[in-house]
Amino acid sequence: MWSGTPLFPEQASTIAGRVDALYFFLIAITVFFSVLIAGLIVYYAVRYRRRSPESVGESVHGAMALEITWTVIPFVIVMVVFVWSASVYFAIARPPNETLNIYVVGKQWMWKFQHLDGKREINELHVPVGRAVKLIMTSEDVIHDVYIPAFRIKQDVLPGRYTTEWFQATKPGRYHLFCAEYCGTRHSGMTGEVIVMEPAEYQNWLSGGAPEGSLADAGQKLFTDLSCNTCHRPDAQGRGPVLTGLFGKTVQLQGGQTVVADEAYIRESVVNPAAKVVDGYQPIMPTFQGLVSEEGLLQLIEYLKTLKAQPEAASAPAPTEKK
Ligand code: CUA
Repeated sequence: MWSGTPLFPEQASTIAGRVDALYFFLIAITVFFSVLIAGLIVYYAVRYRRRSPESVGESVHGAMALEITWTVIPFVIVMVVFVWSASVYFAIARPPNETLNIYVVGKQWMWKFQHLDGKREINELHVPVGRAVKLIMTSEDVIHDVYIPAFRIKQDVLPGRYTTEWFQATKPGRYHLFCAEYCGTRHSGMTGEVIVMEPAEYQNWLSGGAPEGSLADAGQKLFTDLSCNTCHRPDAQGRGPVLTGLFGKTVQLQGGQTVVADEAYIRESVVNPAAKVVDGYQPIMPTFQGLVSEEGLLQLIEYLKTLKAQPEAASAPAPTEKK
């Protein structure tokens, strides 16, 4: 409808059409009532104008039908808007079960992307068309925001936390990616491009370039380099908890609380181990704050995800993450 005009970006994701439909509905309602009210003001001003200097306005007391009408109509309209927008919001907020996960680290002033197989890129994000992609995002410094107008998605990226957003691109092409949260001098230059490719082309791109180890492999190397393995041993004889099969499980903490071992918990346990101590263990782990980069933390998390209860599952991680 708006193609060819710079008023609206392209619709290039499964959600884009739904967001626009709601938006056009809001515009239509606003235009309808603005025109109606402005028109009535002019019409009544003429129709009921003072015709002689002696005429006095008639006072009106009570108009139940009128009161009910102008209460019920707005109520119905806002409820329609509420239900409609809530359903769009849930579709945007809840990723499907099967997603292609890509890690994003924002910093002043660039975007760093890591694919599960180890491929990395800066300010460019290659994704396949027709596949649900989930971005798991964090920041190295201040608050940034990943905004991809053609996909109609936007999500803050915060230091010390993981936020996610997902999309399914519907047509190949190159789309703008902006930082949508003021983050310093070169905020306006913190842009990038999402390159949507046909699946075969995407596989080609993934396998091209210098062979790099997978994210989980890099995490395993880091796990050894930082000597995590001296305390976190798989045989339950170490000074730290066993990490095999940990991801996604509920962990019993000292003091009776529990926590689900998700990305945020693992990150916190590395940079601030004393925050949540596992029941039955001493708070003896030193902090790794400053020793592991945000990208390193993501690699460690991806490595822990591969430590399944079955020993044979600990080898190659699947590119698709089930959650
Ligand atoms: Cu990063 Cu604005």
